[in-house]
Amino acid sequence: MTRPFIIAVDGPAASGKGTVATRLGRELGLPVLDTGLLYRAVGVLTERAGEDPDDPAAATAVASALSPDQLDDPGLRTRAAGELASRVAVHAGVRAALLAFQRTFASQDGGAVLDGRDIGTVICPEAPAKLYVTATAEVRAERRWKQLKGQGETVAFDDVLADIIKRDARDGGRDTAPMQAAPDAVLLDTTEMSIEQAADAARRIVEAARALWERSR
Ligand code: DC
Repeated sequence: MTRPFIIAVDGPAASGKGTVATRLGRELGLPVLDTGLLYRAVGVLTERAGEDPDDPAAATAVASALSPDQLDDPGLRTRAAGELASRVAVHAGVRAALLAFQRTFASQDGGAVLDGRDIGTVICPEAPAKLYVTATAEVRAERRWKQLKGQGETVAFDDVLADIIKRDARDGGRDTAPMQAAPDAVLLDTTEMSIEQAADAARRIVEAARALWERSR
């Protein structure tokens, strides 16, 4: 059996990691999992059930019952859903409940691309290709603000920037699986890059990782 070629793409909100992951998946013919959607679904479904997202037991129960068909909801892409996701993502029980699904996705034949916060560190520490995609908070806020506007959400830029800063602190400061670059991840700073430039840079990083991986097989 051949080992799957797993690409781990981590980084903070609106860094460009989602776009980079989607492009890599398309170019290499690999399935892509946006793991943020799992946490978004848990946050939104916990709240819809009338439960408190900050209650570990309530959120863990929702995470344990989550099914893939619940990830298609457009309501998961909103600003409120991102905030709820970050809140439920601090619970160790929630993270444990979502672990098996992510690992199963990663281990499919041929490989997969997963984007998130802890893919290279916790979910797939053995991944042969790891990227940590980042950009300044201001540039990320600008991108997120434009995206939300495009989705019809009216929100002030300063509020989006405040959200991003708060989320970085919560995601990076939690005890369980905090957002951080794996020691062997390649850093990709997209602050000054267009989407095309970021995608090109990511492709080159993955090509180099793939060449090393082929040689080690
Ligand atoms: O990538 P995103 O903005 O959709 O993620 C929403 C939140 O979910 C993020 O602020 C933290 C959490 N998350 C996580 O803790 N681990 C992941 N692998 C993915 C997302």
